[in-house]
Amino acid sequence: MASDDIAAVLDCAALAPSVHNTQPWQWRAVDDAIEVRADRSRQLAYLDPTGRQLHVSCGAAIEFGYLAARSVGRECDVRLQPDGADGELLAVLELGEVRPPTPTEQRLAEAIAVRYTDRGPYSDRPVPEGLVEDLRRRAAELEVWVRTFERPDDRRALITVLSDAEQEEARDSRYAAELAQWVGPTGDVGVPAEAVAGRWPSDRVSQVPLRDFTGRAEHPSAEGRGDDPPPTVERDLLLLFGTASDDPGAWLSAGRALGWALLRAAAVGVSAQPLGPAIDLPAARERLRHELGLVGNPQFVVRMGYGADRPRTRRRPATTTLN
Ligand SMILES: Cc1cc2nc3c(=O)[nH]c(=O)nc-3n(C[C@H](O)[C@H](O)[C@H](O)COP(=O)(O)O)c2cc1C
Repeated sequence: MASDDIAAVLDCAALAPSVHNTQPWQWRAVDDAIEVRADRSRQLAYLDPTGRQLHVSCGAAIEFGYLAARSVGRECDVRLQPDGADGELLAVLELGEVRPPTPTEQRLAEAIAVRYTDRGPYSDRPVPEGLVEDLRRRAAELEVWVRTFERPDDRRALITVLSDAEQEEARDSRYAAELAQWVGPTGDVGVPAEAVAGRWPSDRVSQVPLRDFTGRAEHPSAEGRGDDPPPTVERDLLLLFGTASDDPGAWLSAGRALGWALLRAAAVGVSAQPLGPAIDLPAARERLRHELGLVGNPQFVVRMGYGADRPRTRRRPATTTLN
């Protein structure tokens, strides 16, 4: 029987974002520790053949669990891949001494319940000063770098890679078939239809293509239709997370940095949406690396800004994934 602290940690970890809301994790409580394992039955065969996105998702869950442990006033030692021989054992979170959380840890843990992926329009209001610096600092502690896209050439390169990558995916029938499996189910996994239904007004379009969850890579035109004036093009804050190496340990760390960043944003009312296609498939990642002249490996791209309220996705209760 898990202690109250362990149960509280698991409830929060289960709210982490995951690719297509696959929730590809399993927990095992051993005394005052939690073992986090990969659930390979939930790995996406087409989109994620190497399990990279599975690891990023689990990394976010590990960071959520870490912050939850701190918010219940416990030290939390996170050991990634503690048993190199057991590839499914991704991490152990060991709860330790009593120590009150810092104000930041407390605020971020409180944001776990309100964070969600916002796929709608964001306002033109800039994100608060210090936000990017903060998430860059936390990322650096985890050996993850964060790059922004201030230069128009960099933005253009990202848009081209994103757009071509999604078109490439759309040409393969396995892409749409896999999406159909995970989008719109009524259970407690997958992306609910109401979370992706386009609620963009006809007079506003995103500068970067946001994943078309029908799998057709179709996006509203920025040209305008007929006699209508062209829509306003929204230019959000874009962030790229990357790592020096490209192995399961780096993927988990990128997931932790991402989890922290999303909570830091949510804590001040800032929404976010990952821009998956740029980093789904190895060829797109390689092209992004080349076009941006990156030293290192791109792991994740995300847009941020002030959105509006959106429906939230469901989760499997932590107890169903507890062995
Ligand atoms: C590795 C990864 C890739 C993702 N890719 C996308 C994406 O391309 N487009 C998108 O809208 N959401 C993407 N998401 C967000 C998930 O769909 C979302 O976290 C999941 O459906 C749970 O919903 P929630 O974040 O609202 O709790 C991604 C999340 C992760 C962790």
